[in-house]
Amino acid sequence: MGVGLQSEMSDPWKKTMYRAVAASLVLVVTITVLQMGSSPSEQKTTFPEDAVEAQKRNIPADSFWEPNTDTTGTALAPVTERQVLAWDVTTNNCTANSNLTKLDWFKTLEPNFQQFILYRHCRYFPIIINHPEKCSGKIDLLIVVKSIITQHDRREAIRKTWGKNGVINGKTVRTLFLLGKASKEEEQANYQKLLHYENLIYGDILQWDFLDTFFNLTLKEVHFLKWLSIYCQDVRYIFKGDDDVYVSPTNVMEYLDGNLVRDLFVGDVLYKARPIRNKDNKYYIPSALYKNNLYPPYAGGGGFLMDGPLAKRLYKASEGLELYPIDDVFLGMCLEVLKVNPIFHDGFKTFGIVRNKNSKMNKEPCFFRAMMVVHKLLPDELLEMWDLAHSNLTCSRKLSIQ
Ligand SMILES: *[C@@H]1O[C@H](CO)[C@@H](O)[C@H](O)[C@H]1NC(C)=O
Ligand SMILES: *[C@@H]1O[C@H](CO)[C@@H](O)[C@H](O)[C@H]1NC(C)=O
Ligand SMILES: *[C@@H]1O[C@H](CO)[C@@H](O)[C@H](O)[C@H]1NC(C)=O
Ligand SMILES: *[C@@H]1O[C@H](CO)[C@@H](O)[C@H](O)[C@H]1NC(C)=O
Repeated sequence: MGVGLQSEMSDPWKKTMYRAVAASLVLVVTITVLQMGSSPSEQKTTFPEDAVEAQKRNIPADSFWEPNTDTTGTALAPVTERQVLAWDVTTNNCTANSNLTKLDWFKTLEPNFQQFILYRHCRYFPIIINHPEKCSGKIDLLIVVKSIITQHDRREAIRKTWGKNGVINGKTVRTLFLLGKASKEEEQANYQKLLHYENLIYGDILQWDFLDTFFNLTLKEVHFLKWLSIYCQDVRYIFKGDDDVYVSPTNVMEYLDGNLVRDLFVGDVLYKARPIRNKDNKYYIPSALYKNNLYPPYAGGGGFLMDGPLAKRLYKASEGLELYPIDDVFLGMCLEVLKVNPIFHDGFKTFGIVRNKNSKMNKEPCFFRAMMVVHKLLPDELLEMWDLAHSNLTCSRKLSIQ
């Protein structure tokens, strides 16, 4: 019986050995990759997909998509100003402004809000993962997605759906994810390794050395604007949004193709929003921080479109303003400085869709097919809706997005 068992076992045993050897090889490769990835220096890997994209970057002579070479010259780089050529922030030793702790209104704030106030003057942090090459050359649509280190599945779903790099209707599209550091200390080391690995595979991560918290979203905004101003030579339009939205790049392209507006900034715009004075609300604002009763018009941060040259001017405007705890309102303030009116468009649904399983908005692919941006979807829902909306679907009425 012993012999019989032995001969029966020998085959599976060999398999097990092969598996063990294969597994240890994979482990060695992974560790090597992780070690390469954990270097704190800037990542400058060029990925083969870039070469392919570069070859495909064969844009038809279509007036709206050509760079502005006309006399108004809004797209011309300022020649008189000193051009920063690389991320120039290398220290993160900005200290808390403890002067503020004595103020009465400060004492009433919740701890995260207090943290924001204490570090409000710290404007820029070093960059941990950079991709200068991602913005070289002509890009028709740059998609940037606010993401956090732990939401790997959302990034994966976006890469498979609306964040695909490539060419749509002859236009070059690039996607990048904007990240800070893991907000929980126990998550930092492990997730950071995984992120470096993810970045080695996809090369689409930008990460800065600040904690990814709700109150640091405005930091993410200004870091992106600064990054764009340094590294992007010729970006025609930018889509910026959350990692839990549905986007139709085809509809976005169609809309942009017909756009005649200079300084375009379009989204789910609120024109007369009021600062929330209820202390229990996530968006509570003490009047010491903002005294007016109305906000300037601003677009919901879930997803909006802006003109590339305008984004560079927004960067300059942002530098003249103190950071505001709500990132989309902050951008509205920058627009106000530039006297640019954001445009409301019905194709952006970033406010007011209730997460109700019976809502049409959750299961009607024809609705999604007609929109430019819809929030909030979990990764599985996004993948499913993407497939449905791109299937051979007969929609009873043609919804116009113009
Ligand atoms: C921050 O670090 C830089 C470089 O190490 C140093 O020159 C500077 O004095 C530091 N600032 C503070 C406030 O510690
Ligand atoms: C705190 O107050 C002191 C004295 O008024 C001032 O010199 C200093 O610049 C203040 N600190 C900050 C970070 O504003
Ligand atoms: C924002 O990030 C900085 C740098 O990591 C951190 O010191 C600060 O506490 C964060 N602010 C908030 C409000 O989380
Ligand atoms: C799509 O639907 C139309 C009409 O229902 C049909 O004629 C066509 O063959 C379908 N195409 C595919 C690829 O299924």
